[in-house]
Amino acid sequence: MQQRKDDMDLTQRIRTLPKEISDKIAAGEVVERPLSIVKELLENAIDAGAASIVVEIQNGGKTYVRLTDNGCGIPARDAALVFQRYATSKITTAEDLASIQTLGFRGEALASIAAVSRVELITKTTQQKTGVKITVEGGNVTDMEETGAEDGTTIIVSDLFFNTPVRKKFLKPDRTESALIVDYLSKMALAYPNIRMRLIHNGTILFSTQGKGNVLQNILTVYSRQTANGLIPVQGNQKERGYALSGYVSRPDQSRSNRKHLIYFVNGRWIRSPLIDDVLREAYTDKLFAGRYPAAFLFLRIPPDRLDVNIHPHKTEIKFLDEQEIRTFMVQSIRQNLLSEDAAPNMARYLTVKSSRRNQSDDKEETVSQIDIKHISLNDERTHYETVLSEIAPEESAGRNAPADKLPGERFLFSELRILGCVFAGYIVAQGSDTLYMIDQHAAHERILFEKLRGTAGGKSPDAQMMITPILTEIPLYLREEAPERLTLLMELGYHIEEFGPKEYIIKEIPALMDPSEAEAFLNDVLNNEPGTGRTEPKAEKERLIMHACKAAVKVANILDIRELESLLRALDETENPFTCPHGRPTFLRFSQRDIEKLFLRK
Ligand SMILES: Nc1ncnc2c1ncn2[C@@H]1O[C@H](COP(=O)(O)OP(=O)(O)OP(=O)(O)O)[C@@H](O)[C@H]1O
Ligand SMILES: [Mg+2]
Repeated sequence: MQQRKDDMDLTQRIRTLPKEISDKIAAGEVVERPLSIVKELLENAIDAGAASIVVEIQNGGKTYVRLTDNGCGIPARDAALVFQRYATSKITTAEDLASIQTLGFRGEALASIAAVSRVELITKTTQQKTGVKITVEGGNVTDMEETGAEDGTTIIVSDLFFNTPVRKKFLKPDRTESALIVDYLSKMALAYPNIRMRLIHNGTILFSTQGKGNVLQNILTVYSRQTANGLIPVQGNQKERGYALSGYVSRPDQSRSNRKHLIYFVNGRWIRSPLIDDVLREAYTDKLFAGRYPAAFLFLRIPPDRLDVNIHPHKTEIKFLDEQEIRTFMVQSIRQNLLSEDAAPNMARYLTVKSSRRNQSDDKEETVSQIDIKHISLNDERTHYETVLSEIAPEESAGRNAPADKLPGERFLFSELRILGCVFAGYIVAQGSDTLYMIDQHAAHERILFEKLRGTAGGKSPDAQMMITPILTEIPLYLREEAPERLTLLMELGYHIEEFGPKEYIIKEIPALMDPSEAEAFLNDVLNNEPGTGRTEPKAEKERLIMHACKAAVKVANILDIRELESLLRALDETENPFTCPHGRPTFLRFSQRDIEKLFLRK
């Protein structure tokens, strides 16, 4: 050690590393695995304006990645330059960095890829008669020749990490590497529906999109029919700020147990975003059970100068300069669309899903509502169907009145429906202009009660009514700790409770909006419900208790007269989210006239 220190010439201690070494180090930031190569090449092809892109990989991309595009091509005189670090055609000044319109901008990708693999580039612009072919090995151009070629660019990257064996060791099995590539390309296919994309692995086509601009069609191609069926469109614009949101989210009655279907793009770039995760959580508050997630394919456009994409070499993390505005804009847009009529579950759609499910025994994407739907259409859905149709779909359903067209996102009113009757002591059947509705009385009631109570909690002196016979109740031992908070919550909701001996309480008043038996069931549920995890916020814990207790409070098969039915529908109109009960089950199903005609094989 001493020896080395003495030997050192201080003037030589700091020196620039040779290019081969520095390139390898820098490449490590950009090229981690085959996926990185596919990502960079794909982004270049998109930036080049390609309408068609073919990606071919072998052995998970470790030995071979080829990407062919029909984009603008690279002029022969620049072709060798692209492998130099910081060579880019996409920005010229430092100011350009603040408003990036393209996916690439650093001029680093091809240099990085070339530093750790063997690369062949064939490219031709429309202006040129012949193309050029360049061979690069470990960052050095070894060959360059004229060649016949189509317009566009083909890049072949082979033997990744041949000159950095340590990094090669860290690659995962082929299957894992190819799965990452499939996942990434699937997402990009959604964001660029106008580009025809095809992925081939070891000679097999894994997927191929049509490039016809239909996002939903691509979701169907790339994901499953079931995923695509449960989606409603999202549209939002804020012109002054230049924000635009589009895409699809799952209807409130659909949910998943994982986040795999939360997919976001900002200005055409796939990103991860805790902020957008949060936006969805907020937009779906009270619409999903805890631990369930919606599906969301969201495409956000904002002015490029309000975004920093340069915070990570992979460009998958971004920073919004106006986080709060973006958050509010997105939550509002999504909520607005969640309240549109499209968000209502469509009966015909369920039937299609159910019948296709019969052939698929292993279906992991079962949604909450489909499980629930079974209890009305269980075993023999046709008989059920026929009963409903013969009982409640007389000639009026032939649609004499033209449907009153609603603007997208405009709220539709249950109280405008014509009530035809009630079936199975719990489902209201009603008709709109060209649609037949079945409303689950219980779920609707639960929603109304939940929102009324939630609105009351924390507010001042809610309406209460005296009990003729007061209720006596006990609080179980294991809940003693939480008892004071629960009693406070009940008082906030309109209960009047007094201590009555060491363990007992006497209830003298109940909320005006419940009848005594409802009030008692609700109270017992709040007092006896298992304690929360302790990690939830007090507000969330309150909601949890109310949500749970509503279910206990609402009676199942209660036969209502026509005036009661009407007032139930009016009350449902006043709720913020009439589409699901607080637990996420649908409050109603609908058949459009078309659906019914289709089921009768008339269309
Ligand atoms: N498929 C392609 N078609 C046309 N030009 C291309 C293509 N791929 C690369 N180029 C040209 O090569 C240049 C260098 O590409 P490279 O990916 O290394 O950098 P970049 O895209 O500019 O920035 P970044 O490092 O952020 O990706 C690009 O700026 C572009 O001019
Ligand atoms: Mg690039």
